[in-house]
Amino acid sequence: MTSRPQTVLITGVTRRVGADLAGHLLEAGHRVIGSYRRETDVLHALIDRGLIALPLDLLERERIEPFAREVAERVDRLDLVVHNASIWHRDEDCAADPGLATAMYTVHVTAPIELTEALQRTLPARERDDGQADRQIVFLTDAHIHEGEPDHIHYIASKAAIEGSIRSLALRYAPHTRVNAIAPGLLMFHPGDDPDYRRDRLARRLLPFEPGPGVVAQTVDYLMACPLINQAVIRLDTGRRWGN
Ligand SMILES: NC(=O)c1ccc[n+]([C@@H]2O[C@H](COP(=O)([O-])OP(=O)(O)OC[C@H]3O[C@@H](n4cnc5c(N)ncnc54)[C@H](OP(=O)(O)O)[C@@H]3O)[C@@H](O)[C@H]2O)c1
Repeated sequence: MTSRPQTVLITGVTRRVGADLAGHLLEAGHRVIGSYRRETDVLHALIDRGLIALPLDLLERERIEPFAREVAERVDRLDLVVHNASIWHRDEDCAADPGLATAMYTVHVTAPIELTEALQRTLPARERDDGQADRQIVFLTDAHIHEGEPDHIHYIASKAAIEGSIRSLALRYAPHTRVNAIAPGLLMFHPGDDPDYRRDRLARRLLPFEPGPGVVAQTVDYLMACPLINQAVIRLDTGRRWGN
């Protein structure tokens, strides 16, 4: 764990991984800003625990610069930005409505890069005397980029695009900022997933358990604690069985 409280921005804290990470970091004493679109009970519970909640729809790109200014009005520094917000459309839905594919590229690629740039303008990370980074950017990508996912080609392509950009972003922002990615496989099922589907997904893993969102928080802790890690992709998928 890093010694002093950190100031963290997480996009998409209304549910699941983003909400769990926000709760974990608040519990550890960090200052957490979370973006949301819909107001949920989970969001309100986090606000009660100290979350600074700011509205942002990443599809409204004209809102990104004002959002970055609002962040700068609320906090005086930013140690960590976690680009967690995501949408997950099947290819058959994208074929019926091509706007869905474009939306995934906007939410996973274009808007996070623009937000990263806007935050550097409104609340700049600075070069430090000790040579360490002043800020870290973490993108949530997907382990299936490396395995293939035939029903979600647009989703995987958009996640691969942002994962492919971390090296360029790290080059642009060194030495004041480091840039990493966490690429999870299955973290948690959706409530509607039936038992056969669950069994089949778990059988493809070397370690057949549903880990839950806490493994992302554990990995973020590690990335915060280890100042040397830059341009890295950490896969969180337990490994996959050969041939599956
Ligand atoms: N869960 C898994 O098993 C798994 C596996 C691999 C990778 N991942 C990655 O891990 C991350 C978190 O996964 P998750 O399962 O927690 O995702 P999720 O349940 O789909 O939640 C996504 C979050 O993104 C927000 N969001 C969606 N569209 C947005 C937009 N246009 N503007 C701003 N926010 C938007 C949602 O906010 P609203 O509720 O307000 O719409 C929500 O808070 C994602 O990046 C995902 O790709 C997850």
